[in-house]
Amino acid sequence: MQLEALFGRLWEEYICVAPQAGAIHQAFLARGELVVNDHVALRTFDQAPISLVCLERHLLERGYRRLEPYRFQQKKLRAFGYVHPHAPRVFLSELLTGGFSPRLRAIVSACCAAVPLDAAADPRILFAGRLWPPVAWEDYQVLRQESDYAAWVAALGLRANHFTISVNALQHFTEVAEVVDFVESLGFPINEEGGRIKGGPAVLLEQASTLADPVEVPFAGNACQSVPGCYYEFARRYPDADGQLYQGFVTASADRIFESTDTRS
Ligand code: NI
Repeated sequence: MQLEALFGRLWEEYICVAPQAGAIHQAFLARGELVVNDHVALRTFDQAPISLVCLERHLLERGYRRLEPYRFQQKKLRAFGYVHPHAPRVFLSELLTGGFSPRLRAIVSACCAAVPLDAAADPRILFAGRLWPPVAWEDYQVLRQESDYAAWVAALGLRANHFTISVNALQHFTEVAEVVDFVESLGFPINEEGGRIKGGPAVLLEQASTLADPVEVPFAGNACQSVPGCYYEFARRYPDADGQLYQGFVTASADRIFESTDTRS
Protein backbone atom coordinates (compact mmCIF):
# COMPACT_ATOMS: atom_id res chain seq x y z
CA MET A 1 0.00 0.00 0.00
CA GLN A 2 1.43 3.37 -1.07
CA LEU A 3 1.69 6.18 1.45
CA GLU A 4 -0.72 8.45 -0.40
CA ALA A 5 -3.43 5.78 -0.31
CA LEU A 6 -2.64 5.00 3.32
CA PHE A 7 -3.05 8.65 4.36
CA GLY A 8 -6.22 8.88 2.27
CA ARG A 9 -7.75 5.99 4.18
CA LEU A 10 -6.51 7.32 7.53
CA TRP A 11 -8.29 10.60 6.71
CA GLU A 12 -11.55 8.88 5.65
CA GLU A 13 -11.69 6.81 8.83
CA TYR A 14 -10.74 9.87 10.89
CA ILE A 15 -13.50 12.16 9.61
CA CYS A 16 -16.04 9.41 10.32
CA VAL A 17 -15.36 9.93 14.02
CA ALA A 18 -14.36 13.60 13.71
CA PRO A 19 -16.88 15.20 11.35
CA GLN A 20 -15.66 18.57 12.68
CA ALA A 21 -12.31 17.97 10.95
CA GLY A 22 -14.03 17.56 7.58
CA ALA A 23 -16.02 20.76 8.17
CA ILE A 24 -12.98 22.76 9.34
CA HIS A 25 -10.91 21.48 6.42
CA GLN A 26 -13.66 22.55 4.00
CA ALA A 27 -13.94 25.98 5.66
CA PHE A 28 -10.23 26.63 5.10
CA LEU A 29 -10.47 25.47 1.48
CA ALA A 30 -13.47 27.76 0.97
CA ARG A 31 -11.24 30.67 2.01
CA GLY A 32 -8.80 29.71 -0.71
CA GLU A 33 -6.36 28.20 1.74
CA LEU A 34 -3.64 25.68 1.14
CA VAL A 35 -4.29 22.96 3.73
CA VAL A 36 -1.13 20.96 4.40
CA ASN A 37 -1.01 18.17 6.95
CA ASP A 38 1.74 18.81 9.53
CA HIS A 39 1.40 15.43 11.24
CA VAL A 40 -0.90 12.55 12.05
CA ALA A 41 -0.99 11.07 15.55
CA LEU A 42 -1.62 7.38 16.24
CA ARG A 43 -2.24 5.69 19.58
CA THR A 44 -1.81 2.10 20.67
CA PHE A 45 -1.10 -0.30 23.56
CA ASP A 46 2.38 -1.69 24.33
CA GLN A 47 1.39 -5.30 23.63
CA ALA A 48 1.85 -7.49 20.56
CA PRO A 49 0.59 -7.61 17.90
CA ILE A 50 -0.26 -3.89 18.03
CA SER A 51 2.62 -2.43 20.05
CA LEU A 52 4.45 0.65 18.80
CA VAL A 53 7.22 -1.54 17.38
CA CYS A 54 4.66 -3.74 15.57
CA LEU A 55 2.94 -0.71 14.02
CA GLU A 56 6.02 1.35 13.16
CA ARG A 57 7.35 -1.29 10.79
CA HIS A 58 4.65 -0.24 8.33
CA LEU A 59 6.10 3.28 8.46
CA LEU A 60 9.76 2.25 8.36
CA GLU A 61 9.10 -0.06 5.40
CA ARG A 62 7.68 2.96 3.53
CA GLY A 63 10.65 5.24 4.01
CA TYR A 64 9.94 6.81 7.38
CA ARG A 65 12.68 7.15 9.96
CA ARG A 66 12.43 7.58 13.69
CA LEU A 67 13.34 11.09 14.76
CA GLU A 68 13.13 11.43 18.54
CA PRO A 69 11.71 9.55 21.53
CA TYR A 70 9.26 11.19 23.94
CA ARG A 71 8.19 10.12 27.39
CA PHE A 72 5.05 11.12 29.30
CA GLN A 73 5.65 10.06 32.88
CA GLN A 74 2.29 10.91 34.38
CA LYS A 75 0.18 9.49 31.54
CA LYS A 76 2.56 6.49 31.28
CA LEU A 77 3.13 6.82 27.56
CA ARG A 78 6.05 6.74 25.25
CA ALA A 79 6.16 7.99 21.69
CA PHE A 80 8.36 8.61 18.69
CA GLY A 81 8.22 11.19 15.97
CA TYR A 82 8.74 9.84 12.44
CA VAL A 83 9.72 11.81 9.39
CA HIS A 84 9.62 11.14 5.68
CA PRO A 85 10.96 13.27 2.83
CA HIS A 86 7.63 13.37 0.98
CA ALA A 87 4.92 12.55 3.50
CA PRO A 88 3.52 14.12 6.69
CA ARG A 89 5.25 13.57 10.01
CA VAL A 90 3.79 10.83 12.22
CA PHE A 91 3.57 10.88 16.01
CA LEU A 92 3.10 7.31 17.27
CA SER A 93 2.54 6.71 20.98
CA GLU A 94 1.83 3.65 23.12
CA LEU A 95 0.45 3.15 26.62
CA LEU A 96 2.97 1.58 29.01
CA THR A 97 0.54 -0.80 30.65
CA GLY A 98 3.04 -2.17 33.18
CA GLY A 99 2.50 0.87 35.40
CA PHE A 100 -1.26 0.32 35.75
CA SER A 101 -3.51 -1.89 37.86
CA PRO A 102 -3.92 -5.62 37.17
CA ARG A 103 -7.54 -4.91 36.18
CA LEU A 104 -6.57 -2.39 33.51
CA ARG A 105 -3.84 -4.69 32.26
CA ALA A 106 -6.30 -7.60 32.01
CA ILE A 107 -8.79 -5.56 29.96
CA VAL A 108 -6.06 -4.30 27.63
CA SER A 109 -4.48 -7.75 27.27
CA ALA A 110 -7.85 -9.22 26.27
CA CYS A 111 -8.17 -6.57 23.54
CA CYS A 112 -4.66 -7.20 22.19
CA ALA A 113 -5.04 -11.00 22.34
CA ALA A 114 -8.12 -10.79 20.09
CA VAL A 115 -6.26 -9.05 17.24
CA PRO A 116 -5.78 -11.47 14.33
CA LEU A 117 -2.07 -11.86 13.54
CA ASP A 118 -2.63 -11.44 9.81
CA ALA A 119 -4.25 -8.06 10.49
CA ALA A 120 -1.09 -6.91 12.24
CA ALA A 121 1.02 -7.82 9.23
CA ASP A 122 -1.08 -5.58 6.96
CA PRO A 123 -0.45 -1.81 6.79
CA ARG A 124 -4.22 -1.27 6.86
CA ILE A 125 -4.02 -2.04 10.57
CA LEU A 126 -3.10 1.63 11.03
CA PHE A 127 -6.72 2.61 10.28
CA ALA A 128 -8.46 -0.69 11.08
CA GLY A 129 -10.37 0.63 14.10
CA ARG A 130 -11.33 -1.74 16.89
CA LEU A 131 -9.97 -5.23 16.18
CA TRP A 132 -11.48 -6.81 19.30
CA PRO A 133 -15.04 -7.36 20.53
CA PRO A 134 -16.65 -4.27 22.08
CA VAL A 135 -15.51 -3.83 25.68
CA ALA A 136 -18.07 -3.71 28.49
CA TRP A 137 -19.20 -0.23 29.50
CA GLU A 138 -18.06 -1.00 33.07
CA ASP A 139 -14.61 -1.92 31.78
CA TYR A 140 -14.48 1.32 29.81
CA GLN A 141 -15.14 3.18 33.07
CA VAL A 142 -12.35 1.22 34.79
CA LEU A 143 -9.94 2.20 32.03
CA ARG A 144 -11.05 5.81 32.04
CA GLN A 145 -10.46 6.16 35.78
CA GLU A 146 -6.83 5.23 35.28
CA SER A 147 -6.17 6.48 31.77
CA ASP A 148 -8.35 8.41 29.32
CA TYR A 149 -5.89 7.25 26.67
CA ALA A 150 -6.53 3.57 27.48
CA ALA A 151 -10.28 4.08 27.33
CA TRP A 152 -9.99 5.89 23.98
CA VAL A 153 -7.95 3.10 22.35
CA ALA A 154 -10.15 0.34 23.77
CA ALA A 155 -13.33 1.99 22.44
CA LEU A 156 -12.08 3.32 19.09
CA GLY A 157 -9.21 1.03 18.18
CA LEU A 158 -6.41 1.86 15.79
CA ARG A 159 -6.98 4.99 13.73
CA ALA A 160 -5.66 8.53 13.40
CA ASN A 161 -6.29 10.30 16.68
CA HIS A 162 -5.80 13.64 14.97
CA PHE A 163 -4.63 15.29 11.81
CA THR A 164 -2.91 18.66 12.03
CA ILE A 165 -3.19 21.73 9.85
CA SER A 166 0.20 23.32 9.17
CA VAL A 167 -0.17 27.00 10.04
CA ASN A 168 3.11 27.67 8.20
CA ALA A 169 1.50 26.58 4.93
CA LEU A 170 -1.62 28.76 5.30
CA GLN A 171 -1.68 31.80 3.00
CA HIS A 172 -3.99 34.15 4.93
CA PHE A 173 -3.12 33.27 8.52
CA THR A 174 0.21 33.71 10.29
CA GLU A 175 -0.53 33.20 13.97
CA VAL A 176 -1.95 30.08 15.61
CA ALA A 177 -4.15 32.48 17.62
CA GLU A 178 -5.81 33.73 14.40
CA VAL A 179 -6.41 30.17 13.25
CA VAL A 180 -7.95 29.23 16.59
CA ASP A 181 -10.22 32.31 16.54
CA PHE A 182 -11.39 31.37 13.04
CA VAL A 183 -12.08 27.75 14.03
CA GLU A 184 -13.98 28.91 17.09
CA SER A 185 -16.02 31.31 14.94
CA LEU A 186 -17.14 28.24 12.98
CA GLY A 187 -18.60 26.88 16.22
CA PHE A 188 -15.94 24.36 17.23
CA PRO A 189 -14.70 24.56 20.85
CA ILE A 190 -10.97 24.74 21.54
CA ASN A 191 -9.11 22.63 24.11
CA GLU A 192 -8.21 25.10 26.88
CA GLU A 193 -6.22 22.62 29.03
CA GLY A 194 -2.83 24.22 29.64
CA GLY A 195 -3.94 27.35 27.74
CA ARG A 196 -5.46 27.77 24.29
CA ILE A 197 -2.03 27.82 22.70
CA LYS A 198 0.68 25.38 23.77
CA GLY A 199 4.37 26.07 23.25
CA GLY A 200 5.68 28.96 21.18
CA PRO A 201 8.80 30.28 19.45
CA ALA A 202 11.00 29.38 22.47
CA VAL A 203 10.33 25.65 21.94
CA LEU A 204 10.11 26.05 18.13
CA LEU A 205 6.59 24.63 17.99
CA GLU A 206 3.27 26.31 18.72
CA GLN A 207 0.11 24.20 18.82
CA ALA A 208 -3.59 24.30 19.55
CA SER A 209 -6.42 21.83 19.12
CA THR A 210 -10.17 21.50 19.13
CA LEU A 211 -12.01 19.34 21.64
CA ALA A 212 -12.87 15.89 20.35
CA ASP A 213 -16.26 15.33 18.75
CA PRO A 214 -18.43 12.96 20.80
CA VAL A 215 -19.03 9.72 18.92
CA GLU A 216 -21.47 6.86 19.50
CA VAL A 217 -19.69 3.54 19.79
CA PRO A 218 -20.97 0.07 20.62
CA PHE A 219 -20.12 -1.54 23.94
CA ALA A 220 -20.66 -5.17 24.94
CA GLY A 221 -24.31 -6.20 24.81
CA ASN A 222 -25.03 -3.82 21.88
CA ALA A 223 -25.30 -0.85 24.22
CA CYS A 224 -24.14 2.30 22.40
CA GLN A 225 -22.63 5.14 24.37
CA SER A 226 -21.28 8.52 23.44
CA VAL A 227 -17.52 8.89 24.07
CA PRO A 228 -14.86 11.41 23.00
CA GLY A 229 -13.73 10.70 19.43
CA CYS A 230 -11.10 12.64 17.51
CA TYR A 231 -9.99 16.27 17.31
CA TYR A 232 -8.17 18.56 14.89
CA GLU A 233 -4.85 20.21 15.64
CA PHE A 234 -3.07 23.33 14.35
CA ALA A 235 0.70 23.68 14.44
CA ARG A 236 3.20 26.37 13.59
CA ARG A 237 6.88 25.44 13.39
CA TYR A 238 9.79 27.82 13.84
CA PRO A 239 13.32 27.60 12.43
CA ASP A 240 16.06 26.36 14.78
CA ALA A 241 19.50 27.96 15.27
CA ASP A 242 20.64 26.50 11.94
CA GLY A 243 17.68 28.04 10.14
CA GLN A 244 16.03 24.62 9.65
CA LEU A 245 12.35 24.30 10.45
CA TYR A 246 11.96 22.32 13.68
CA GLN A 247 10.78 18.77 12.91
CA GLY A 248 10.16 17.38 16.39
CA PHE A 249 7.42 17.51 18.99
CA VAL A 250 7.28 19.14 22.42
CA THR A 251 6.49 16.86 25.33
CA ALA A 252 4.94 19.51 27.57
CA SER A 253 2.55 20.64 24.80
CA ALA A 254 1.65 17.14 23.63
CA ASP A 255 0.94 16.19 27.24
CA ARG A 256 -1.93 18.69 27.36
CA ILE A 257 -3.07 18.03 23.79
CA PHE A 258 -3.64 14.37 24.72
CA GLU A 259 -6.36 15.77 27.01
CA SER A 260 -8.43 16.82 23.97
CA THR A 261 -10.04 13.38 24.19
CA ASP A 262 -10.62 13.36 27.94
CA THR A 263 -14.15 12.83 29.16
CA ARG A 264 -15.52 16.05 30.56
CA SER A 265 -18.14 16.01 33.25
NI1 NI B 1 -0.34 16.40 17.42
